[in-house]
Amino acid sequence: MIINGILLKASLELFGEIMCGIVGCILKEKKAAPVLLECVRRLEYRGYDSVGIATSSSGINIKKDSGKIDEVQERLQLDDLPGKMGIAHVRWATHGLPTRENSHPHTDCYNKLALVHNGIIENYQELKDQLQEEGHHFSSDTDTEVIAHLVEKQMSKGMDLEDALRLVIHQIKGSYALAVIHVDYPNIIIGARKESPLILGVGDGDYFLASDVPAILEETNRIIYLDDEDLFVMKNDGIIVKDSQGRVKENEIDVISWSPEMAQKGGYDHFMIKEIHEQPEVVRNTLSELHEIKKTVENFSDFKRVCFVACGTSFHASMVGKYLFEELVGIPVDLALASEFEFSAGALTDDTLVIFITQSGETADTMKALEMAKEKAETLAIVNVMGSRATREADYVIYTRAGPEIGVAATKTYVSQLTCIYLLAACMVGDEKLLDELKKVPDYMKTALEKEELIKEISPHYKDVTDFFFIGRGFSYPTAMEGALKLKEITYIHGEGFAAGELKHGPLALISDDVPVVAVVPPGKSHDRTMGNVKEVKARGARVICLGSQNDVNLRSEAHYMIEFEDQISEVLSPLIYVVPLQLLAYYISVERDINPDQPKNLAKCVTVV
Ligand code: F6R
Repeated sequence: MIINGILLKASLELFGEIMCGIVGCILKEKKAAPVLLECVRRLEYRGYDSVGIATSSSGINIKKDSGKIDEVQERLQLDDLPGKMGIAHVRWATHGLPTRENSHPHTDCYNKLALVHNGIIENYQELKDQLQEEGHHFSSDTDTEVIAHLVEKQMSKGMDLEDALRLVIHQIKGSYALAVIHVDYPNIIIGARKESPLILGVGDGDYFLASDVPAILEETNRIIYLDDEDLFVMKNDGIIVKDSQGRVKENEIDVISWSPEMAQKGGYDHFMIKEIHEQPEVVRNTLSELHEIKKTVENFSDFKRVCFVACGTSFHASMVGKYLFEELVGIPVDLALASEFEFSAGALTDDTLVIFITQSGETADTMKALEMAKEKAETLAIVNVMGSRATREADYVIYTRAGPEIGVAATKTYVSQLTCIYLLAACMVGDEKLLDELKKVPDYMKTALEKEELIKEISPHYKDVTDFFFIGRGFSYPTAMEGALKLKEITYIHGEGFAAGELKHGPLALISDDVPVVAVVPPGKSHDRTMGNVKEVKARGARVICLGSQNDVNLRSEAHYMIEFEDQISEVLSPLIYVVPLQLLAYYISVERDINPDQPKNLAKCVTVV
C-alpha cells in the first residue's frame, strides 16, 4: 500500500506492555538523529536504562550506551549522527545487564546492518549456538542480536533484505517489533511486528515508526496500526505493508486526537487503568520466563522449607505462594512481612530457601531482611526492576517482566509476581498440567476485564461508604486482602480483608447494612463454607458483591451484585483472575471520589525507609 493519506479515521486501539521502545524515521528535509532523540525522550517517562541511534548516510553510523538519555546524549552527542533516516531504541533491560554492548541498535558480523527490537526471542539460544558454530561473532548477551546475524546469513546467500527478513521472522519464536536498516539499501527501513506493539506514522513527506503513539505524536497524528505478523517497507515516498506471506495489505490511516499526555496513557485517563488493561499481555510476557525459571530451579541446592518475605501487595503474592507450595510442592512454607522478619530471623535454618518478592527490588524493609537472610540461607528474589538492589544481592533472581509500572498502586506487577510463583512451583514438581492451564490465564483475564462496564456502573453506589469488608478462604484469602489494600490506597475508604472463617471470631460484630462485603467465592473446596459466610453477613444486613462462577446460581441468588467468571477457572488459578475486578472496583470508586489513583496521598512507588 502506498500511503497518500487516503482514509482517515479516529482510533483508540491500545497496545499492551512495552518494555523497550523503538522508533525510526525517513525525513524529507531534516536530519534524522535529532528527531529520533526527541522521539525516544518521549518514551523515557517509563524509566529506561540504555539508548542508541543508528542512521544511514554513506554507511551505517551507530552511537549507543547505557545510562539515561540525557547522560548518554551529553557523553556521545547522539544527535550529531548524519543522514535523513535512522532507527533508535530505548531499553529497559530484561535479557543481559544494561551495558553498552547490550544496548541497541545491534549489528551483524560486518556492521552492514543495524537493528532495533522490542520483544523476546524465545529460541534465541539454540539459534545463537548454531550461528556461532557457523562462525558468526556475537558482541552482546541479548536475544536480539541473533536476528541481525540471521538476516546477514540469508543475505550472504543472495537474498534481498525483505525476503531475508521475512524468512528470519518465520525462524524466530516469541514476540517482536523490529526495524532494520542496511548499508546496501540506503533509502529503506524495513520492519515487522508480532505480539509487541509497533505503529507507523505518516507526516508531510516524512515517515515514522514507533512502539507507541506518544513517541511520534508531535511529528504526526496520522497513524497506521500494524496487525500481528505484518511486515513493512518504508521509503521516502511511502510505506508498503505486507502480511506474513508477502501479500500487499491496505492498512488504514487513523487520525489520533489525543493530547501527548493522554497518549502516554494510551488514551486512558490514568496509568493505573492502562496498567490494569495490560495484564493479559504482562502475564504472557512473564510466562516466557519459563526456561529461565527451569534453569534457576536446576541450580537450587536441596532445601526442606521455603520462607516468603515481602511487603504490601508483594506480600499478598507471597500468601498465594504459601498455599501453592504447600499444596503442590508439598513443602512447609513460612511467611514473613519484611518489616517483621528480624523478629523471626533467628530461627532461620540453612535448609530453607528464602524467597523475596519485590516489584522495585529496592524496598528498604525487604532489603534489610534480604541482608539478614543471606547470612544463613540461600535466597531467591522475584523482581520487576532489572539491576535493582535485590537483583544484585540475592543468590538467584527471577524477573517478572511486567515492564515499568507508573501507577503507585501495584496491579500488573502483582499478577506478574503470581505468574512467576506458579511457574516456579510447576517447574519444581514438573507439573505440565499447571503449565498448560497457565497459558489460558491471559484469555481468562481478558474476559474478567469485560466486567469493567458493570463495575463502572456500580461504583457510584459505594463512593460514600466508610468501611468495606473483603472475604475469601484459602487461595481467595490473599485476593480478598489485595482487594482491600487497593481500595484503601486509592479511595481512602477503610477496607479490610478477612479469611472468611475468621468473621465469627470478631469482625462479624461490625457488619451492618452500611458495610458492604465483597465475597471471593470461586468454585472449589472452599466454596461451600464461604457461601455459608455470605449468608451470615447477608443476614446482618450487608450488601454483598459476590465474585464467582457464571454457573453458580446459588451464589447469584445471595448477591447484591454478582461478578461472574468462567466456570473453568479453578480455585488454584483464581487469584490471577479474580483480582482484576477488585482492582477495577478500587479504581472506579477512586475516580468517583475525585482522587487521582495514580498518586494517592502519603504513598510512594518505592519505599526506601525502614
Ligand atoms: C500496593 C503497593 C505496595 C507495595 C509494597 C512493596 O499497591 O504497591 O504495597 O507492594 O510497598 O513494594 P515492592 O514490591 O516494590 O517491594
